[in-house]
Amino acid sequence: MSLLAGKYGIIFGVANKRSIAWAIAQAWHQAGAKLAFTYQSDRLKDNVEELTDVFGANTLLLPCDVTHDEEIASVFQTISQKWGRLNLVLHSVAFAPREALEGRFLDTSREAFRVALDVSAYSLVAVSRAAAPLMTGGGSILAMSYYGAEKVVPHYNVMGVAKAALESATRYLAYNLGPQKVRVNCLSAGPVNTLAARGIAGFNDMFKHYEEHSPLQRNVLPEELGATGAFLASDGAAAITGQVLYVDCGYQIMGM
Ligand SMILES: NC(=O)c1ccc[n+]([C@@H]2O[C@H](COP(=O)([O-])OP(=O)(O)OC[C@H]3O[C@@H](n4cnc5c(N)ncnc54)[C@H](O)[C@@H]3O)[C@@H](O)[C@H]2O)c1
Repeated sequence: MSLLAGKYGIIFGVANKRSIAWAIAQAWHQAGAKLAFTYQSDRLKDNVEELTDVFGANTLLLPCDVTHDEEIASVFQTISQKWGRLNLVLHSVAFAPREALEGRFLDTSREAFRVALDVSAYSLVAVSRAAAPLMTGGGSILAMSYYGAEKVVPHYNVMGVAKAALESATRYLAYNLGPQKVRVNCLSAGPVNTLAARGIAGFNDMFKHYEEHSPLQRNVLPEELGATGAFLASDGAAAITGQVLYVDCGYQIMGM
């Protein structure tokens, strides 16, 4: 079924084949969307190029460090020139300095707090603002969150605060963009073994804890995040906006 046939989408956040963004990009592609990709820095360009080659050698690849407004502007200028429109945006980007993801949240420095919130939450606002003028036919913006936004998860620390800001931003953006039929949602994923996840102290324990305590007694698979990502981008989710959807094998419902 071509749920996303005729849709144009842009993916922020592929670093390698384990990236959640890559799982969702594959699902969007299989559902018929035409995709462009951004990469954070030249260091990652080859990786992303190698992966996206399967979608055709002329897949649009654009540099974008989301802390630089001019790079965000340049991405959407290119999309405007090449496609003249856009339907789908995936924001799958987060960062906090490593020292902020171990030890006590209490010790978070002003600079670590600033960087984490800038990269992981404000960037959704900046990207949505730049994308919106191209989303004239309505569309879907999807960001990735985690349960640490809502509850204390040891070592997640400032990233939990950043995810809380991201989820709140999602609601405000959904309100602003609703009149132009652009929906904004978060997909809150259970732990997945990625580059970003390995930066969190005790990630392996977290992974094991979910297997032992989630109702489904396992961890979520990347292709399951892809399938939910495709659903949220599709017309099946046409009345869903401003939401945080948990795709975590049910872990979020547990009290103990
Ligand atoms: N892996 C998990 O367990 C998990 C669970 C829930 C939510 N998430 C979220 O999923 C998203 C993707 O993470 P992932 O786990 O796939 O890891 P990942 O390391 O594969 O992806 C993180 C991406 O963020 C990008 N990034 C970081 N700083 C950037 C910047 N300044 N400009 C542009 N891009 C930048 C990196 O290049 C990378 O592509 C993140 O928002 C993460 O918080 C991950």
